[in-house]
Amino acid sequence: MKKIIVINGPNMNLLGKREPEKYGTLTLDAICGEIAAKAEEWGAACEFFQSNSEGEIIGAVQNASDADGVILNAAAYTHYSIALRDAVAAIAAPVVEVHMSNVHAREDFRRNSVIAPVCKGSIAGFGAQSYILALYALLR
Ligand code: DQA
Repeated sequence: MKKIIVINGPNMNLLGKREPEKYGTLTLDAICGEIAAKAEEWGAACEFFQSNSEGEIIGAVQNASDADGVILNAAAYTHYSIALRDAVAAIAAPVVEVHMSNVHAREDFRRNSVIAPVCKGSIAGFGAQSYILALYALLR
């Protein structure tokens, strides 16, 4: 069975309450539940990790090296963490960058992703479905 690691970065623990006009009203737990259900339907297993701390996220990426794929919503670290980019580049597993909002339609600073060049691909703008699309991409 394929193993997919889903990693969420800072403030994603506040989903449901956080800027619902941008991120919707589902909690992170509810979204993880939807991802887990789809993974089961598609014959895969997911593990979930969230942290507000850059170092912990880097540790989670390093630990995912032997997984079949990583779904990474690095949140604000996307836009400036070279250390996270280096961690993504260092591991064998393919990493799909995910954003719930369309980062290209927001502030200029969100248009730049320092992790995108070392990811397999990027999905943004589909709310919770961004994660499901990333899962589909990794499994197919
Ligand atoms: C986000 C977009 C980032 O720019 C922002 O800092 C987030 C969430 C998204 O999922 O749309 O925290 O990654």
